[in-house]
Amino acid sequence: MRRGKTNIAEMVVVGAVASAIGIVGALLINWFPKAASTQAGPIDTLWDVLLIVSIPVFVLVTIVVIYAVRYFRMQPGEEQLDGEPIHGNTRLEVIWTAIPSILIAGLVVYAYLVLVDIEKAPANPGQERHVEVRARQFTWDFTYPGTKGPDGKPINSTTLYLPVGESVKFDVRTDDVLHDFFVPEFRMKIDAVPGKITNFRVTPDEEGRFQVVCMELCGLGHAFMRAYVEVVSPEEFDAWVAEQGKPAAEEGGGGGETAAADGKGIFTETGCNACHTLSDAGSTGTTGPNLDEVLAGQSADFVRESIVDPDAKIAAGFQPGLMPKDYESQLSPEELDALVNYLVEVTSK
Ligand code: CUA
Repeated sequence: MRRGKTNIAEMVVVGAVASAIGIVGALLINWFPKAASTQAGPIDTLWDVLLIVSIPVFVLVTIVVIYAVRYFRMQPGEEQLDGEPIHGNTRLEVIWTAIPSILIAGLVVYAYLVLVDIEKAPANPGQERHVEVRARQFTWDFTYPGTKGPDGKPINSTTLYLPVGESVKFDVRTDDVLHDFFVPEFRMKIDAVPGKITNFRVTPDEEGRFQVVCMELCGLGHAFMRAYVEVVSPEEFDAWVAEQGKPAAEEGGGGGETAAADGKGIFTETGCNACHTLSDAGSTGTTGPNLDEVLAGQSADFVRESIVDPDAKIAAGFQPGLMPKDYESQLSPEELDALVNYLVEVTSK
């Protein structure tokens, strides 16, 4: 190899230039949505460090392959020739095993330290809010065990309300298969594992409306398994808490619980509002059909069938298999009757 030394010098120069271009380019790319938690900054820095370390490794491997193809390829007339047999090179193998191992161990330790640091419990545990996240095909449900509404019950919501600047610990569980609880703007995510409670902490530091996204393929409705996070000021949060748990029958005026008012409560408690728009219940879900439209003028039998056997008739533009099929066992016969009557009543206006 007369050209050996020249080649190595050339490879080093090309590699350094390509790595520099790659790193600058990668750092200029806006990889993530807006950052809205105190955890997001260190995570984004961690990402940048991983890019800075891995781009030169990628460039090194690519350059060696390209040079090998260019300078060591078979020339015409060499078809029958074979080089000297090689019996390994211990020193080389130790080096190319040790360097990547040290690199990876270093990055693992660094990433671990960052995670431990950003998930530290607040100094005063009393300042932390707990939220139980319940995942099921294909909806999210949030309960606030330590946050009681005016009726004295823990608040439950299909939209995740959080006060800005306050540490919150999520306990994540699933009723059925694997899901994954992720708010991209918070940068933290964790699997919802059947039979287990998983958790993470965030401190939202920006007010705004973000999406909860399911990040684990969980069935046909996976892509639609979304909910909203509303990060609001502490005052707005308290006002929201005070609004919760008010009896659904309020507007009836009479105080006596009518079947329709009852049905409205069931509609919300069962989580129908998470996926369906229904103006009477003030819900705006879009995962399933708009009930004001698809149930207008339909009979009680049709409404009942749509609840207990959702795939029997599918509204235009929707796929079968999206809606859970266990509502008949989840609801008592009386609750189901009340829900059907309520839906017939409010969609026939
Ligand atoms: Cu739940 Cu994907």
